[in-house]
Amino acid sequence: MPLSLVVLISGRGSNLKAILDAIEAGDLPAVVCAVISTDAGARGLEYARRRHIDTLALDAADYPERNDYDRALQGLIERFNPDLVVLAGFMRILTPGFVRHFQGRILNIHPSLLPAFRGLRTHQRALEAGVREHGASVHFVTEELDGGPVIAQVRVPVLADDDPASLAARVLREEHRLYPQTLRWLAEGRIRWNGQQVLFDDKPLNHPQQLEAQLEGQ
Ligand code: GRF
Repeated sequence: MPLSLVVLISGRGSNLKAILDAIEAGDLPAVVCAVISTDAGARGLEYARRRHIDTLALDAADYPERNDYDRALQGLIERFNPDLVVLAGFMRILTPGFVRHFQGRILNIHPSLLPAFRGLRTHQRALEAGVREHGASVHFVTEELDGGPVIAQVRVPVLADDDPASLAARVLREEHRLYPQTLRWLAEGRIRWNGQQVLFDDKPLNHPQQLEAQLEGQ
């Protein structure tokens, strides 16, 4: 059985596209049942529409209370009864109740080598900090913002002439490999969350899996 996914986005949707492309290429035994956006105008929804995947938008303006928004979101997701909820550029902080409900079944991709640079503007902050290496992480979502157990990472070098845009582009290209690869491991049953920790091939994953970056020609 392919892994069923509901993907949550807010904007560009390039990670969603990478996941859909991997499925289409036969590289990821998964099916995207629906894409839900915080914004009906999110560009990324187009990738789903083109493939006749259900798209839904949930506007925060209709739900002044955060709990109400998350309850509505949970209801939408549960219509599709997915194996996993995949956050891909979803720009909202989720309430603890929501996160607890989906614990172990909800993933996020974050553009830094967690635990470094949680939160926003990660590329600029990495440059300001003068780090020589930056990257992206896929992690299980917990109540702690960008603080859940990291499953896999990809590292890229920071170059002397980088600005936030060039660094972001280098990281993003690797994100597009990291998310499908991590989902593949989940689909194959190689990664599991036992309520306390991440298991990889039934052994505790003490360090995130490292994906080799493909930096040729960059
Ligand atoms: C990515 O950099 C992701 O790591 C972060 O938000 C960005 C989303 O980009 N969480 P996209 O919408 O997938 O193109």
